[in-house]
Amino acid sequence: MRIVLVGPPGAGKGTQAAFLAKNLSVPHISTGDLFRANISQGTDLGKEAKSYMDAGNLVPDEVTIAMARDRMGQPDAAKGFLLDGFPRNVSQAEALDKALATDSVKLDAVLDLEIPEDEVVRRIAGRRICRTDSAHVFHVANQPPKKEGVCDICGGELYQRDDDSEETVRRRLEVYHTQTEPIIEHYQAQGLVVTISALGKVTEVTERAMEALQRAR
Ligand code: AP5
Ligand code: ZN
Repeated sequence: MRIVLVGPPGAGKGTQAAFLAKNLSVPHISTGDLFRANISQGTDLGKEAKSYMDAGNLVPDEVTIAMARDRMGQPDAAKGFLLDGFPRNVSQAEALDKALATDSVKLDAVLDLEIPEDEVVRRIAGRRICRTDSAHVFHVANQPPKKEGVCDICGGELYQRDDDSEETVRRRLEVYHTQTEPIIEHYQAQGLVVTISALGKVTEVTERAMEALQRAR
């Protein structure tokens, strides 16, 4: 299956993507995680992306689209993928449409996670991620690690993301509403959007998502 996950910052896209990708046997491709891996490796791409990310703005399309295409072109993504955080504006969505058409493949669904803003703020304020792999995500109250400050999965150190400050989160939400939400309309026109509530326990949201994706197949 080829799926796009969309939803505001802190909706739980990364958390859900980890379970959904496993259930569907497709790779989880997160442009945010790819940028963070580049930042921790000190690559030129990471250096360029960091200033945009820290300000809560989008990294320029040219850089982002090339990175996403490169990842989607890897052998493990040949039969499907779960995109998390890409596309994030209409021009990225159009670039993705073009790339898929070139490969004669189609998206199966765009899963839209709906969540009230006050819950987003609570989730982001308590989020801690792993220094070794930013896809290892915890929450101080909702999903606490067994040992404080230590990743359950790999033993890495947990920390708060630089872009999770209150001011940057406000900017990220604004960018979501103005630049990312319009892609929902773009995909509605293709009949691909399934919307679910992202409230409730992580396992409940995963079940809801799996049901919605079965219906969309
Ligand atoms: P990115 O990393 O994609 O961030 P985001 O979209 O803002 O989303 P988040 O990672 O903040 O949240 P999430 O929805 O994954 O929530 P999570 O599962 O962690 O992007 C970061 C930056 O990179 C962007 O601002 C931009 O600069 C750049 N970038 C990335 N892609 C780009 C693109 N395509 N183009 C241009 N720039 C791009 O959950 C949040 C917390 O809630 C966690 O602590 C979790 O434990 C907890 N939680 C999750 N589910 C539940 C639940 N059901 N109940 C209770 N708690 C829960
Ligand atoms: Zn880890």
